[in-house]
Amino acid sequence: MSNFNQESVVSVHHWTDTLFSFKTTRDPSFRFRNGEFTMIGLKVNEKPLLRAYSVASANYEEQLEFFSIKVQDGPLTSRLQHLKEGDSIIVSRKATGTLVIDNLLDGRNLYLVGTGTGLAPFLSVIKDPETYERFEKVVLLHGCRHVKELAYGEMITETLPKDEMLGEMVRNQLIYYPTVTRDPFHNRGRITDLMSSGKLFSDVGLADLEAEKDRVMICGSPALLTDTKQLLLDRNFIEGNHGEPGHFVVEKAFAER
Ligand code: A2P
Repeated sequence: MSNFNQESVVSVHHWTDTLFSFKTTRDPSFRFRNGEFTMIGLKVNEKPLLRAYSVASANYEEQLEFFSIKVQDGPLTSRLQHLKEGDSIIVSRKATGTLVIDNLLDGRNLYLVGTGTGLAPFLSVIKDPETYERFEKVVLLHGCRHVKELAYGEMITETLPKDEMLGEMVRNQLIYYPTVTRDPFHNRGRITDLMSSGKLFSDVGLADLEAEKDRVMICGSPALLTDTKQLLLDRNFIEGNHGEPGHFVVEKAFAER
């Protein structure tokens, strides 16, 4: 049996000239945990060209969703950005990754730190009822350079709160905190700076980070991972992994960053 499924593109959404997302059919045998990534791609010169992509849809949803950058000379995304409804795409049968709540110790509040397309795994995590059972508040941080890059904002603030299954949990427990660094906006600055200065916590009305109580998931550029990880290590947070839950987890697998 092949390690890959052939899926079909159901819809494509272009957020900006550098960001897009798409939905595909989902083989019923494909199982994943919310927050995981899988390998997806296209056949190029008869060979599969694959990259790691977080699944942005939740594991109970019928379709798969992916959120991607467009790189004009990127081997995969230069092609992927031209996907149209009905096109074929290769999706691995396996999913993996560290950004799953099982890799975290129990705690009070969960902080999801994503920059750019690093938001993707958290779109899946915030649709998981278990996330709200395990944590009191779930703070979704999305950091981008420009306001127009704050994709999925409407889904998070308008659609999810009205969702039949999740609505109540989302309304009571989810705090969405988008922030940009290069445009005027109500929240400005790098997530790391907002955490260090304490501005984030006073803005959302929560206590400062504490290893005893808070849990963090991080997904973004290598520099963001390094700096956020250091900020947490300085506060005595311990990194978690498969089989060894901790205070925070970091995802290192990315598409063309
Ligand atoms: P900045 O504009 O100050 O570089 P990128 O597109 O480069 O991945 O950046 C996405 C967002 O993440 C931007 O707002 C960027 O801020 C921010 N960012 C980049 N590097 C870091 C870092 N090391 N720590 C925190 N935020 C970062």
